[in-house]
Amino acid sequence: MRMENAVMSLEQGVTGISVGDESCGRMGETGYFDGFRESVKPWSRIPFDEIESKIRRLFEYLRGFLQLRTEFQIGLEDDREKNEAFMNPIAPFPFDPYDPEFRKNPYPFYDRLRSETPIFYHGDWDLWFFTTFEDISALLGDKRLGRTMDHVLSPEEVAEKRRAANWERLPYFSRYVRQNFMEKEGADHARLRKLAYKVLTPKRVRGLAPRIQEITDRLIDKVEGRGRMDFIKDLATPMPVLVIAELLGVPEEERHRLCPWSEAITKMFEPAHSQLVEENAEQSAKEFSEFLLELVARRKAKPRDDLISALAAVEDEGDRLSIDELIATCMFLLNAGHETLVNSAGNGMLALLRHPEQLEKLKSDPSLTKLAVEEMLRYDSPLHLFKRWILEDMTYKDIAFKKGDQVALLYGSANRDPTEFENPDIFDITRRHNPHLAFGKGVHFCIGAPLARMELQITIDTVLRRLPGIRLADANPKRLKGFVFRGVEELPVEF
Ligand code: HEM
Repeated sequence: MRMENAVMSLEQGVTGISVGDESCGRMGETGYFDGFRESVKPWSRIPFDEIESKIRRLFEYLRGFLQLRTEFQIGLEDDREKNEAFMNPIAPFPFDPYDPEFRKNPYPFYDRLRSETPIFYHGDWDLWFFTTFEDISALLGDKRLGRTMDHVLSPEEVAEKRRAANWERLPYFSRYVRQNFMEKEGADHARLRKLAYKVLTPKRVRGLAPRIQEITDRLIDKVEGRGRMDFIKDLATPMPVLVIAELLGVPEEERHRLCPWSEAITKMFEPAHSQLVEENAEQSAKEFSEFLLELVARRKAKPRDDLISALAAVEDEGDRLSIDELIATCMFLLNAGHETLVNSAGNGMLALLRHPEQLEKLKSDPSLTKLAVEEMLRYDSPLHLFKRWILEDMTYKDIAFKKGDQVALLYGSANRDPTEFENPDIFDITRRHNPHLAFGKGVHFCIGAPLARMELQITIDTVLRRLPGIRLADANPKRLKGFVFRGVEELPVEF
C-alpha cells in the first residue's frame, strides 16, 4: 500500500466521520494493528483463485506499515530530481505521526519542524508538508490548489482515475460517499455550497439552541447522581449525533440505525483496510442511502420544518439539488458534524481540567465561554491534517510544484505557530487574537462552524454549571490511534 494512500485515506476520513449514539465506537479505534487483523481475518472465506491477490494486498499492507516507521529520508533520492529547486526540505527527525510519542504530544515535534524545516518533502508518502500559519493560510486561499483535480481534468482522465481507484467495485460508496460537496471544486462546489448554505441558515442554527440545551441537560441528568462519568461516552459522543439527527429530521426511533452505517463507512478511511471492510462500507452506503431515499420521499410528500425537507425544496434561480446530490449532502452532514465535535469537546475539556486556574476563571465568569471554546479549538485542534492537489505547475517560495503533486497542510501545527499566536503553548481562555484554522479557511471553510461553536459553548457552560466539582479521574487519558483525528478514547471525570 502506498503511503500517499494511507494519508489520503486518513484525510478523506473527515468525510466519513462516525455518527452514533452511546453505542458508537470511536474513529481511530481501528488503528494500524486492528487494520492488520481485519486484513487477515476474512481469509478463511476467500475462494482459492482470489488468494494470490489477497497475498499481494497483505504484502503491500506490510510494506506500507514498515515504510511508515522508516526514516523518510529513504526513498528521497529517487524523488530528488522531481524538483529542481530542492531546498533541503528534509525534516530534522524521522517524521512518524503514528509514533505513540508523537500522538501523545505532537506539539514539540511541530515546533522543531516549523523552526528548522517549515516546508519539507516526505519521500515515502510523496507529499510536501507545510507547517507554518503563514504558509497554510496562504495556500488555503490559493486557487492553484484544490481538494480534487477532477474539474481541471478531461472527462476521459476523470473516468480513468476512477477506474484506477476501482470506483465501479463499490458503486454505492462511490456514488454517495466519494462525491459529497467537500470533494468538489470550482463551479460545482460553489453551486452545492450555496444551496446547502441556503438551508443551514444562522436563524435555523440559532433556533436549535433550546433543543441542544435540553439534550445536554438530559444526558447530564443520567450521570449526575453517579459522581463520575466518561465525558466522551456519556456526553461528547451522544450529544452531537442527537443534534445533527434532529436538525436533519431523522425520526427519533430510527436514529440508532445511523451509527453502525456510519462506523462501517468510517473504517474505509483508516490507513489500511481489508476487503471485508470495503464490503461492509459498500453495504452500509447502500442501506444508508436507501434509508435516506425513503425518508426524502416521505418529507417531499409531507414537508416538515427540518433540513431534509428544506434541502429537498431548496432552489437557487431555478437550480435544485439532484436526488444523488441530496442524499450525498445529507450523509455528509450527518457524518461531518459528529466525530469532529466529539474530539473538540474531549480535547477542550481535557485542556480545561489540566489548567485549574483557567477552570476557576471560567467558572467565576461564564461570559468567557465563547473565548474559551475558541482557545480549546486552537490549543488542541481535533483535525490535524488536510491535503490539497496542485492544479497547475506553480512555484511557491522557490519550490517548483507540478500539476498533480499533493501537499499536506498541518492545521494542528499552524495553530501553535508563535509568529501568529502569542505564547502559543499557553492555554489562555482570555486570548483575544485567535484566528485559528481549526475550521479551515477559504472556499472550504467549515459550513457547520456556527453550529459546532454553539454545541461546544452549551456543553462546556452546562457541565461547569451543573457539575462544578468536575475533575480528571485519569490524568493521562489514552489518545486515539489516529493522527489526523486528534482526540481521546475516553475521558473519565469525577464531580
Ligand atoms: C468542532 C467541530 C468541527 C470542526 C473542527 C470542523 C472542521 C472542518 C474543517 C477543517 C473543514 C475544512 C476542510 C478543509 O480545509 O479541507 C470543514 C468543512 C466542512 N464542515 Fe466542518 N467541522 C466541524 C463541525 C461541523 C458540523 C457540525 C458540520 C455540519 C453541520 C460540518 C460541516 C462541514 C461541511 C459541509 C464542510 C465542507 C465545506 C466545503 O467544502 O465547502 N462541520 N470542517
